[in-house]
Amino acid sequence: MALRICTILFWLLPVALALPSPHPLVTPPPTPVQRRDLLSDAESYVNGVISGLGSDVSGYIASGVPQFFQDLPTGTAVQSSLGINEKDLAATPTQVLNLPAYGNWTNAGWNVRVHGNVYKMPNISESKLDELADIFLIGTSIKDLPPAEQTQARNLTAEIFVVQQSHVNVSIQFVNNVGIEPQDDGGATNAVGGAQVIRLLEETTDQGDYGTWLVLANTTTINANGSSSGYMMPGNETSRVQSLNMYATGTDSGNSTVYLVPPKGVTVISDIDDILRVTKIWDPKEGLLNSFAHPFTPWLNMPDIYANWSSSFRDFHFHYLTTTPEQVTRNYMDFIFKTYPLGSFDTRPLNFSDVSATLSIRKFLLDLVFETFPERKFILVGDTSNSDVMKAYPQVRNLHLLSYVTVHTQTEGLFPTPELLTRSPNKKLTKDYPGQVLCIFLRNSSSTDSSDRFPYNTAGFKGLPQDQYMFFNVPDDLRNLDIVGGKCHNASVKQNVTFSEQGLPFGLSKSGVAETRPMPGLWATLVVGFGLVMLAMM
Ligand SMILES: *[C@@H]1O[C@H](CO)[C@@H](O)[C@H](O)[C@H]1NC(C)=O
Ligand SMILES: *[C@@H]1O[C@H](CO)[C@@H](O)[C@H](O)[C@H]1NC(C)=O
Ligand SMILES: *[C@@H]1O[C@H](CO)[C@@H](O)[C@H](O)[C@H]1NC(C)=O
Ligand SMILES: *[C@@H]1O[C@H](CO)[C@@H](O)[C@H](O)[C@H]1NC(C)=O
Ligand SMILES: *[C@@H]1O[C@H](CO)[C@@H](O)[C@H](O)[C@H]1NC(C)=O
Ligand SMILES: *[C@@H]1O[C@H](CO)[C@@H](O)[C@H](O)[C@H]1NC(C)=O
Ligand SMILES: *[C@@H]1O[C@H](CO)[C@@H](O)[C@H](O)[C@H]1NC(C)=O
Ligand SMILES: *[C@@H]1O[C@H](CO)[C@@H](O)[C@H](O)[C@H]1NC(C)=O
Ligand SMILES: *[C@@H]1O[C@H](CO)[C@@H](O)[C@H](O)[C@H]1NC(C)=O
Ligand SMILES: *[C@@H]1O[C@H](CO)[C@@H](O)[C@H](O)[C@H]1NC(C)=O
Ligand SMILES: *[C@@H]1O[C@H](CO)[C@@H](O)[C@H](O)[C@H]1NC(C)=O
Ligand SMILES: *[C@@H]1O[C@H](CO)[C@@H](O)[C@H](O)[C@H]1NC(C)=O
Repeated sequence: MALRICTILFWLLPVALALPSPHPLVTPPPTPVQRRDLLSDAESYVNGVISGLGSDVSGYIASGVPQFFQDLPTGTAVQSSLGINEKDLAATPTQVLNLPAYGNWTNAGWNVRVHGNVYKMPNISESKLDELADIFLIGTSIKDLPPAEQTQARNLTAEIFVVQQSHVNVSIQFVNNVGIEPQDDGGATNAVGGAQVIRLLEETTDQGDYGTWLVLANTTTINANGSSSGYMMPGNETSRVQSLNMYATGTDSGNSTVYLVPPKGVTVISDIDDILRVTKIWDPKEGLLNSFAHPFTPWLNMPDIYANWSSSFRDFHFHYLTTTPEQVTRNYMDFIFKTYPLGSFDTRPLNFSDVSATLSIRKFLLDLVFETFPERKFILVGDTSNSDVMKAYPQVRNLHLLSYVTVHTQTEGLFPTPELLTRSPNKKLTKDYPGQVLCIFLRNSSSTDSSDRFPYNTAGFKGLPQDQYMFFNVPDDLRNLDIVGGKCHNASVKQNVTFSEQGLPFGLSKSGVAETRPMPGLWATLVVGFGLVMLAMM
């Protein structure tokens, strides 16, 4: 067993050991970052939690991103570590992961953000796949799992060990054949017109990613009897989200949907792990099993809450924003679209792979949505075990509040501080700019799961009116709220927000200290990835 693991590790070592190298495909291992301003008692508590996880997983440290999905091998690193030859790889079909996208309404028409990845899936023998899958399973082996779980473990492992294709051209075909029935969840409607093929102007990146904005032509189909099938609705003449199917040409693996979202309305931006599905990222062994073996399972009756929102407010747009890496996106989409309302998707693009990029990706993706829909209102949903959520959600809210302050200080002839200006560089300074965030809902993951001993920082919430956010315990806490009216706090759910590091044992919480330092919190910065887990196992 030990020998076998070592052999597998040997294949992967080029990935794990690579020092920062000029080769873009080889992800360097993350290094633990020590913050100088850590509270030393808090630090030793955190170290205690970490070592309590067991020596085999001592390198697994949560940054709010499941660490087993950190630093996955990519491109030629996969190819060389598995000994796949060019010729065999060339013979396998090219696949396209084409993510469900959103589009905004502009003077030029509907403007769509297509993004995804082009790759080939090497033909890995089942026995080799099993060996690779075992790397991701702590304290068990694929051969000890029931058949359905074996299938899932092999599926995820195969999805991870793919060879991304750089510098290829991608074309997307848009087709108005979405079959959303009026009674279906989700307020989206089927677009009329809009069919066309567009070749992206840029080839895929070194990591096989593509991501670009396309303006859709306002097309119609002429029927055999000479009549026109009709046109897409302009964004300022409808409140409903229109959907078009899109297909990456040359493959049947890149089928996806684009949501044309009007400038005004409400978008729910939701994280997935530990809010829409049970992951338990705070418990690495469970987290791995819940991702690699157990079927993806909704968290309690959260699907009812979203279904109710979606059927009560037919104009809502749902955007699923998770920092899980691109490689495992298909499994997340498959689960979400069976369980929650349809919507667009963002996962972590491959160029965000080092530690600091991992921690900034959520903010990056949130900013993109806010900039694309400056007049929409947002409901943000996440949980306290994600340090990046705890940081970014109140931050975007404050950012957009700051723009408001800037507008007013400008019109009143006061001097906005340079910081205010640089933090809202794209905002029109001439018009009133009410805050865009209606509600922030955060599941208090430690209240229902005592095994979640990760501290979290609530400093970002200081100054936010209580109506705009709620730390909640179970999905039912979200019932009967006037979310569109911005009344987001259910009075029966007691809030215990200290605006500082929370979840530390009694006596360690130091209110006041946390407010003066930047938000990442001590937790976010103690990141050691997959590569080091493997070294620890050696
Ligand atoms: C809708 O937007 C288009 C493009 O910006 C503009 O030409 C048109 O006048 C607008 N229509 C209405 C009803 O505001
Ligand atoms: C994968 O490899 C196995 C054995 O090496 C072979 O039998 C099988 O046909 C291959 N599958 C594909 C799709 O090439
Ligand atoms: C992609 O398309 C452009 C424009 O047609 C062409 O110049 C380029 O060679 C193509 N790239 C590949 C890899 O085929
Ligand atoms: C023309 O054809 C379309 C689609 O086949 C049909 O929906 C429409 O009713 C027809 N119009 C006339 C005037 O026959
Ligand atoms: C497309 O053109 C038609 C016909 O001129 C017009 O009625 C419709 O509003 C346009 N739709 C969009 C999305 O521009
Ligand atoms: C993708 O769409 C095409 C065209 O509708 C269809 O033939 C194909 O089966 C679809 N692929 C998958 C994986 O569903
Ligand atoms: C893995 O499962 C997902 C979700 O069911 C599916 O879309 C994907 O094609 C599967 N991948 C493989 C390699 O079987
Ligand atoms: C990743 O690529 C996008 C463009 O596709 C770029 O905007 C972003 O800054 C890049 N992120 C990193 C960390 O390089
Ligand atoms: C549409 O989205 C793009 C990309 O985020 C943004 O630059 C642009 O300002 C948006 N347009 C409008 C009218 O909101
Ligand atoms: C979360 O729940 C725990 C356990 O019930 C409690 O001690 C803590 O104060 C709660 N946090 C917030 C922010 O309400
Ligand atoms: C469904 O949502 C609406 C709006 O938030 C709310 O008024 C209603 O009480 C909810 N129903 C249930 C059963 O939660
Ligand atoms: C409130 O939070 C503080 C700090 O995390 C904690 O010490 C205290 O036990 C919590 N109180 C309740 C009632 O949960």
